[in-house]
Amino acid sequence: MAFAWNWKLNWLEIGIDMKIRVLVIFGGRSGEHEVSLMSARSIIDNLDSAKYEIYSLGITHAGVWLTGEAVLDAFVNQRYTALKQAVLLPNPGHAGLFIIENSPSQEVLKTVSSIDVVFPVIHGTNGEDGILQGYLEMCGIPYVGAGVLGSAVGMDKGVFKNVMQANGIPVLENIVIMRADLKDNMNAVIDQAEKVSPYPLFVKPANMGSSVGVSKCHNRSDLLEGLHEAARFDTRILVERGIEAREIEVSILGNQETTASVPGEVVPSREFYSYEAKYVDEASRLIIPAPLEPAQAQLIQSLALRAYQAVDAKGMARVDFLMDKHTGEIYLSEINTIPGFTKISMYPKLWQASGLPYTALLDRLIGLALERKQERDQLEWKYSA
Ligand SMILES: Nc1ncnc2c1ncn2[C@@H]1O[C@H](COP(=O)(O)OP(=O)(O)O)[C@@H](O)[C@H]1O
Ligand SMILES: [Mg+2]
Repeated sequence: MAFAWNWKLNWLEIGIDMKIRVLVIFGGRSGEHEVSLMSARSIIDNLDSAKYEIYSLGITHAGVWLTGEAVLDAFVNQRYTALKQAVLLPNPGHAGLFIIENSPSQEVLKTVSSIDVVFPVIHGTNGEDGILQGYLEMCGIPYVGAGVLGSAVGMDKGVFKNVMQANGIPVLENIVIMRADLKDNMNAVIDQAEKVSPYPLFVKPANMGSSVGVSKCHNRSDLLEGLHEAARFDTRILVERGIEAREIEVSILGNQETTASVPGEVVPSREFYSYEAKYVDEASRLIIPAPLEPAQAQLIQSLALRAYQAVDAKGMARVDFLMDKHTGEIYLSEINTIPGFTKISMYPKLWQASGLPYTALLDRLIGLALERKQERDQLEWKYSA
């Protein structure tokens, strides 16, 4: 088995004509389901068809795995009936994509294809948080991006910020509140939240993205509303000091050896970079490269690389910063281990501006996934003295 990956990796590097079977997984049980469909469209359209045989698997909001003809179109149009239920088996002897066929007396599994590498394009819960990654580990299939640890730590804004603080990386003051305490202990929750800093406070689900469930709270009544809004999406809620900020983002690529792109800047069309500002208005602007002093750009790049290593990210991530408009102070805000991936998304655009075009970026990511699997295959899973 290890041999096969080895060869594929070499083929990819030297360009021998042997297609790599890539399974793109999208949708998912996540508030960012629709964003995932946009990212997946762009990835599927730009994977080099001379190098890859592309398979698609969509996961519905209800968690049903589906494949078949034009899966992505079916998901975009929410017409699932022509699709087939699909599985990846966690049995190393049966690595690959199967469909479940119904006959009158029983359900049988039919092989669709072996899969050499998965490109998980599910943002947010159940896709970017280590849950899907854990399943792919069980299946023994290489996949693009961070493993279980990097995904999980990168996803939870509370744990992530603790890890940053432990590594001396500046973050804004924050606390995590448990959803159960909103019911049982609201007065204590408000007390704790208001101790974080004077208003404005930002309230967000700890495990989410695309600004789903994020509120800027100017007073106590906003805070109450914000807490309940965030509690729709997670049992863990982050309350954080709000600042007037420039938003700077850096793309990182690599496993052991990592590179940072030029930083870019987002200028949101609204009071903050909300879901509407990201996907509805189409009026937010990206400035690439971000207008920064060289020393500031270098500091941001080096903090981003340190954050990436600290959480054990692999393959790719976009690291986001908030820069205080008044003091110039830089705070690391979050890491996105499955960043937005449309052609106009910051992650690929920053690489484009740093000399790595979109299609070549996809090649690099697949190469890194195969390389990581190869390294894990060298571990011993059985102890003998
Ligand atoms: N502490 C903060 N101070 C100022 N703006 C913030 C703060 N936290 C979040 N924001 C704004 O809200 C947006 C979304 O918050 P973020 O933490 O990045 O969550 P998400 O993972 O959903 O993108 C940010 O891009 C920024 O515009
Ligand atoms: Mg963000």
